[in-house]
Amino acid sequence: MLSALLALLALSAPLAASSPLDARGGPKHDKYHGKTLAPSNYTVVPGIFIQDDPKFNATGYDLLSDSFGLIDKSAKRWKNFTKYVTDLNKNADEHTTYKVVYIARHGQGYHNAAESFYGTPAWNCYWAQQKGDGNMTWADAELTTLGIAQAQACNAGWKTQLKDGIPLPQRLYSSPMRRSASTLDITWKDILLNKGVKPVIQEYWRESIGLHTCDWRNNKSDIASRYPGFDFEPSFTEHDLLWDEVYEETGTQQARRIRNALNDLFANDPSTFISITAHSGVINAFFLATGHNKFSVQTGGFVPVLLKAVSYPTATFSPITGGQSATAPACTADPTVLVKAPATVTVQPTWYPACATETATASPKPTGCLASPVTGPTPTATKA
Ligand SMILES: *[C@@H]1O[C@H](CO)[C@@H](O)[C@H](O)[C@H]1NC(C)=O
Ligand SMILES: *[C@@H]1O[C@H](CO)[C@@H](O)[C@H](O)[C@H]1NC(C)=O
Ligand SMILES: *[C@@H]1O[C@H](CO)[C@@H](O)[C@H](O)[C@H]1NC(C)=O
Ligand SMILES: *[C@@H]1O[C@H](CO)[C@@H](O)[C@H](O)[C@H]1NC(C)=O
Ligand SMILES: *[C@@H]1O[C@H](CO)[C@@H](O)[C@H](O)[C@H]1NC(C)=O
Repeated sequence: MLSALLALLALSAPLAASSPLDARGGPKHDKYHGKTLAPSNYTVVPGIFIQDDPKFNATGYDLLSDSFGLIDKSAKRWKNFTKYVTDLNKNADEHTTYKVVYIARHGQGYHNAAESFYGTPAWNCYWAQQKGDGNMTWADAELTTLGIAQAQACNAGWKTQLKDGIPLPQRLYSSPMRRSASTLDITWKDILLNKGVKPVIQEYWRESIGLHTCDWRNNKSDIASRYPGFDFEPSFTEHDLLWDEVYEETGTQQARRIRNALNDLFANDPSTFISITAHSGVINAFFLATGHNKFSVQTGGFVPVLLKAVSYPTATFSPITGGQSATAPACTADPTVLVKAPATVTVQPTWYPACATETATASPKPTGCLASPVTGPTPTATKA
């Protein structure tokens, strides 16, 4: 795991190599007066979206039908919001900039469906380490039918807000996992991708690294052929060098990773409006790294956040402390008791229930029972 984290930290080098300075030697600016800034201290500008209110209750909340949580509900709300953010940037000192990050969780993937089916304890101690169960495959999980519908709902939600002038992301970033890239693709296909916007895949935005096969990624060639309109960060390797089958990154380690990702983003991308399609663990880490109100985001959900970054030479960063990488919890019960896919389970063909008592009232009489009780070992379900 250590080597994985070191490798990830090394990723920042080629990114930082593209200079944050423009031709005149100052920071790069965008049309909303946002600018690039060296490693920064991040805070959330409160009072703009209801999601950043500590009293916000995420249960049952549908931001798609509530202007994405923007508190201002007037017809001119998005034009006003854009002007508000532009003015913040215009009036900011040279050490300060503001960006709006739309941070999204992928739609439901097969691993989410499997975790619901097997239950979280059996998932974490056993099933997450398998690539599938013979019925579903969840290594680098793809979207389920529900996941696709969730991404389509986001697409429709954006089109609705667009009528009222919501500022579109100037840049789209994606985790390299299929479920995120597919969610981005469906969300933005006929809004931005058809206008030539090329999403950028970065390792930074992938889910908690290690242990779960759903968090292992396919090779670059495979991703490139599935998502031909996407770009990769320059350091992106052909094979997944970060994933480890024994160790998993903890939430606090992930928050440090996401803060590095934000440092890179703010140092290299002057865009003011940015979309990131990632994962629940990434969103939790983002909340921790920015001090945002914490809550869990549903599959297919997203959160708009107005971030303030300050970068003084003496700037301090709130510490994010975290210890060793985690390993899988031990199973406290047989994780294979629930069996989803009969095809993967070997049941001794000679085993049948005894006919003795249960046939007396059964109608029609069941076939395949044995007149006398079975002797020998009790059959157990085994993984194929
Ligand atoms: C949050 O909302 C749900 C659904 O409306 C409700 O059942 C729950 O009690 C609320 N939780 C709190 C802490 O208010
Ligand atoms: C414009 O937006 C800002 C920030 O959301 C808000 O404080 C202000 O009340 C809005 N103004 C109008 C006229 O809606
Ligand atoms: C990349 O992955 C695809 C799909 O799993 C596989 O067919 C291909 O051989 C792999 N390519 C390399 C270079 O490993
Ligand atoms: C950095 O942010 C923290 C809050 O997270 C704040 O207490 C501290 O003063 C900030 N430091 C600078 C130099 O802005
Ligand atoms: C196999 O998985 C699908 C979802 O892909 C599910 O609808 C179906 O019920 C599963 N079949 C079995 C036998 O578990």
